[in-house]
Amino acid sequence: MSTAINQTAYNYKVVRQFAIMTVVWGVIGMGIGVLIAAQLVWPQLNFDTAWLSFGRLRPLHTNAVIFAFGGCALMATSFYVVQRTCQARLISDGLAAFTFWGWQAVIVLAVITLPQGFTSSKEYAELEWPIDILLGIVWITYAVVFFGTIMKRTTKHIYVGNWFYGAFILVTAMLHIVNNLEIPVTWFKSYSLYSGATDAMVQWWYGHNAVGFFLTTGFLGMMYYFVPKQAGRPVYSYRLSIVHFWALITLYIWAGPHHLHYTALPDWAQSLGMVMSIILLAPSWGGMINGMMTLSGAWHKLRTDPILRFLVVSLAFYGMSTFEGPMMAIKTVNALSHYTDWTIGHVHAGALGWVAMISIGALYHMTPKVFGREEMYSIPLINAHFWLATIGTVLYIASMWVNGITQGLMWRAVNQDGTLTYSFVEALEASHPGFFVRALGGAFFLTGMLLMAYNTWRTVRAAKPEEIEAAAKFTVQGAH
Ligand code: HEM
Ligand code: HEM
Repeated sequence: MSTAINQTAYNYKVVRQFAIMTVVWGVIGMGIGVLIAAQLVWPQLNFDTAWLSFGRLRPLHTNAVIFAFGGCALMATSFYVVQRTCQARLISDGLAAFTFWGWQAVIVLAVITLPQGFTSSKEYAELEWPIDILLGIVWITYAVVFFGTIMKRTTKHIYVGNWFYGAFILVTAMLHIVNNLEIPVTWFKSYSLYSGATDAMVQWWYGHNAVGFFLTTGFLGMMYYFVPKQAGRPVYSYRLSIVHFWALITLYIWAGPHHLHYTALPDWAQSLGMVMSIILLAPSWGGMINGMMTLSGAWHKLRTDPILRFLVVSLAFYGMSTFEGPMMAIKTVNALSHYTDWTIGHVHAGALGWVAMISIGALYHMTPKVFGREEMYSIPLINAHFWLATIGTVLYIASMWVNGITQGLMWRAVNQDGTLTYSFVEALEASHPGFFVRALGGAFFLTGMLLMAYNTWRTVRAAKPEEIEAAAKFTVQGAH
């Protein structure tokens, strides 16, 4: 490629790479999700093999769906959005390529080490210290490319979507470094620098903000670009988006203690976490309403556009899970919900309904654009995917509500003489039907992902090199 083209073309190569790997890791991560869901129905599926057992595969599932699937979706879309809204090519092709290959290397190392049982035993931060260091380097490179591109922008202001992506990148770096401060004893084993209740607090400050900044703020960046684009309408309120941004990032960082109710953590910290979580409802819904209202005057498009349906339904699930979360943060409610499947249902209302659905919608919008195609290979397949994903999510969440409340009530039931009414195994037996419905819902969701993989493959296969090259060209004053 000549210098002249370089100056007037976006770097879509790295976007294409991340977009394809989002689908690949989505299928793998959710495939493992369906397997572990099935293991809870039919324990024989552990095959008496250590590395296939639930305890080893569960962290592989969470790492694969959050960091591999979610991470690739965030990196693909943030690199796409930052270039188009800043009217500038990424600052460095080499650093962008390093971000892509480095991130894939971290994921492959996770796939190798987690099933073997190498773990720091901190949830969502299980990877051992050498991989943590690699992850830190890749993440800082990602930050340099993203913020460097913002600095060389040719537009006057910074589009709000980039504010959200930027906060997600900065805070994730801070969380990763602070929570993973550890003392290595061998190449494969380290111990946390913190101990006791302090360790628990640092872990859940990390854990909750992984939800708040990785699974929420980053995807809100996605929402602020792709919802207006797909609806063909401007953001409902730019002012609300700025208020939403500052309120969300100021509040989220305090809510972590709601994961540690009734523990050795001081009571005042638990109550602070609870209060901050309840207030968090306001900015969360502010964002949801801003996204929904962007459709004013374009609601009719939902009848014919399955991509827009993905985006709108994801906002509905976002609204639902950010209502449920503050309720679960109330100590008396948490006394019932904690340790039960209710939490798992809440997680997947956010994970499947919000994170996965908004990513899928964004990818269906973006993939044809970066491959120089008009649209995806098949719109009916997108429609089928939409229904499989929606029904799958509803089956998952509803079964976990029923299970969660059943478990919570059975565990706390006491006879007149003070003994427990039910044994643990009786509560487990009562959960069995719910486990089956959850696995079924997961299988629906996974089938939808397989349709997406096929649709993406056919779209990519039809792309011609000259169309791909032409798609990336832009003029500084041109439309984005
Ligand atoms: C086909 C789709 C999926 C299925 C069938 C599935 C299944 C499961 C199962 C069975 C568990 C373990 C539950 C337990 O320990 O009782 C789990 C945990 C988890 N999954 Fe999924 N999952 C799916 C998709 C996703 C996605 C897309 C994400 C994130 C973007 C996600 C994030 C998580 C998280 C964070 C946990 C840990 C929850 C906790 O510790 O409270 N899952 N999943
Ligand atoms: C205002 C927003 C939210 C609040 C206040 C909130 C609150 C909560 C509470 C109270 C718990 C249960 C803690 C426990 O009993 O251990 C929880 C668990 C969880 N939530 Fe949320 N939530 C919110 C939104 C979300 C969203 C949007 C997602 C996903 C995208 C999400 C993902 C999770 C995960 C992964 C866990 C399980 C953590 C674990 O124990 O492993 N939350 N949340």
